[in-house]
Amino acid sequence: MGGIIILNGSPRAPRSNSKGYAQLFARYSALPTSYFEITGSNHPQLCAGLEDCKHVLLVFPLYADGIPVTLLNFLKSLEQSSLKNRPVISALINCGFLEPHQCDVAADMIRLFCAQNGYPAGSILKIGSGEAILESPFRFLAAGSVKKLARSIAREEYGAFQTTMPLSKGMFLSASTKYWLSLGRKNGVTQQQMQSMEIEP
Ligand SMILES: Cc1cc2nc3c(=O)[nH]c(=O)nc-3n(C[C@H](O)[C@H](O)[C@H](O)COP(=O)(O)O)c2cc1C
Repeated sequence: MGGIIILNGSPRAPRSNSKGYAQLFARYSALPTSYFEITGSNHPQLCAGLEDCKHVLLVFPLYADGIPVTLLNFLKSLEQSSLKNRPVISALINCGFLEPHQCDVAADMIRLFCAQNGYPAGSILKIGSGEAILESPFRFLAAGSVKKLARSIAREEYGAFQTTMPLSKGMFLSASTKYWLSLGRKNGVTQQQMQSMEIEP
């Protein structure tokens, strides 16, 4: 009791940016911290684990302006499980676009879940350019925000935080286009294919 459980809700959790953010958080957390990745089959174990902690941190990417289905399904399980202990739920949301406010709806979804299910709502951190910032010279901005998040949870002084790369939209768009095109080339995928609705070539 008293510690914090980090739950990674990325559909690609083992190789996700969310994992990178979770590792940063664990480094800065003053509370005992454990980390788990949400899968399709571990909801009962994860829900049981929440009985013994004071805080939960949901770390996840923005998917289609909302929460990814991996996390949605877990929240459905949590809704069904009758926990006696209701930990404080905080969230760290990262999105691909530059603007952290893209994550506003996902943050509201978490707050609504808390309000409807009797969980105290904690802090929220929204990270724009979340796909890129950890590998960029602006990593320190993400690290600083994660540190603030960790401090706010440990002190129980909850707040909303955000960060992104300090670039103009034009610069971000041109840098990210170059990045995705070069990744496509490495994987034998053309710009046309990337812009189509086909998921598999
Ligand atoms: C299916 C899908 C939907 C996405 N939707 C959005 C979106 O609506 N807005 C956005 O800014 N980024 C969006 N992204 C980008 C992800 O949020 C971004 O790549 C993030 O860093 C992935 O984090 P992860 O590695 O922890 O899963 C989407 C990515 C995928 C694969």
